[in-house]
Amino acid sequence: MTATQLEFAQYPSASPRSEADREAILANPGFGNHFTDHTAVVDFAVDTAGVGGWRNARLEAYGPIAMDPAAAVLHYGQEIFEGMKAYRHADGSIWTFRPEANAARLNRSAARLALPQLPEDVFLESLRQLVAADQEWVPTREGESLYLRPFMIATEAFLGVRPAREVSYRVIASPAANYFGGELAPVSIWVSREYARAGRGGTGAAKCGGNYAASLAAQLEAEAHGCKQVLFLDQFNNNAVEELGGMNVFFVFKDGTLVTPALSGTILEGITRSSIIQLAKDRGLEVQERTITLDEWRDGVGNGDIAEVFACGTAAVITPIGELKDGDEVISAPNPSAGEVTMSIREQLLGIQTGKVEDPHGWMTRL
Ligand code: COI
Repeated sequence: MTATQLEFAQYPSASPRSEADREAILANPGFGNHFTDHTAVVDFAVDTAGVGGWRNARLEAYGPIAMDPAAAVLHYGQEIFEGMKAYRHADGSIWTFRPEANAARLNRSAARLALPQLPEDVFLESLRQLVAADQEWVPTREGESLYLRPFMIATEAFLGVRPAREVSYRVIASPAANYFGGELAPVSIWVSREYARAGRGGTGAAKCGGNYAASLAAQLEAEAHGCKQVLFLDQFNNNAVEELGGMNVFFVFKDGTLVTPALSGTILEGITRSSIIQLAKDRGLEVQERTITLDEWRDGVGNGDIAEVFACGTAAVITPIGELKDGDEVISAPNPSAGEVTMSIREQLLGIQTGKVEDPHGWMTRL
């Protein structure tokens, strides 16, 4: 099924926010606080012959979702999502970054959560429709963008445990500044010893709400210790570094080699992560996707082998890691605020996304 077969009906917002309200929000968007006037929606149902199909594509006013209290998503968490951004370029045009990679990952997550596959062109068209209707919400200020949140939920009212036969795919949008608030600054990380985020054969590689729910108790612990994010380890593999609550991790060694945990099935296949790997290779840097343990982190910082550590993700972009707290022990990054490689790759990535530097891999798509 293609988007051409699936026309988006238009039910525009009857009462979009006034220009003054929108401008007030855009003056200080923060992250994840405010939402635009519309939402794109496509429904899926399995018919009596057992054939599933996407239908009823539409753009409607942003607002609460009416759902049966027995909807499967509310009981069994059958849900997946994506995170992406729309960027305004200097000529006013609006672009997004590697949307086909998000479409593919959404479908990998869908397969893991027994949700239906969404055709890539329906995914792309849903973004186009929403951004066209809400284009005034795409920030113009440096470092800001319109965060796009596509998601899929099981809406069928049924309490037996099986894949739902009714599903809804939606996209919402939210003007966004720095994920961690304020100006870019190194983040502090708490090592979770008590909780794991994922296990072999689990859902760690899928972008599903349950993974983020499972990170919250550890995130609370991090905050109680004055840290902004939590680091998860694989305690069955020598305390190998996995990922943060919602971001991948990179290490820059003093010889310029980049190291990031390999995709083992328990960590998220970050699109920012894979883009950084490509940009680093373009520069002739060696990139190793391999196991890196907490001991190697501690020793590497101690003996100067590790020069920089950073977190990355769509929301976080590239954010230097300042210090790592493991109980009472503090491992400080050698050069937290001015990591040369970190900041240079960050600048190039943001430059590509905002249309200020060449896009050598054709990653940008005009919406
Ligand atoms: C993203 O980076 O887009 C995510 O979904 C992670 C979350 C921390 C906002």
